[in-house]
Amino acid sequence: MQRTLGIIKPDAVAGNLVGKILAHIEVAGLSVEALRMVQLTEEQARGFYQVHQHRPFFKSLLAFMTSGPCVVMVLKGDDAIERYRALMGATDPAKAATNTIRALHATDVEKNAVHGSDGPDTAAQEIAFFRAALSRWA
Ligand code: CMP
Repeated sequence: MQRTLGIIKPDAVAGNLVGKILAHIEVAGLSVEALRMVQLTEEQARGFYQVHQHRPFFKSLLAFMTSGPCVVMVLKGDDAIERYRALMGATDPAKAATNTIRALHATDVEKNAVHGSDGPDTAAQEIAFFRAALSRWA
């Protein structure tokens, strides 16, 4: 059993895609262990995406991620990290495999509908980040 951190991003929440994305995840056999809708502060978005702070798209990414509510979730299942990454598809929806969440629902490489942890260390760190930032979520 493994856990990963997922986010349904502001573009997908604004597009009324929360239900479809959760269904995609659950039909594939992953469980939602914890979930909360939250509008990230700039400080939270900056902390979460710290690893990208020197990238040219960082400022725009912060503006996007704080532009509206998103849904933060802990997903659980066997091999959850890789399975959820496969469900999401490539970061750039133009390169995402058919029927992945991003191929179906993303707009572009920034407004790409969902986030998922990229490995076990990142998953542990991202889950801990949100457990600290969002008290009593479930
Ligand atoms: P995510 O998987 O959440 O990780 C970092 C995010 O930065 C990514 O999804 C996109 O939302 C955004 N991103 C990554 N690459 C680019 C890019 N080339 N231009 C703009 N945004 C990007």
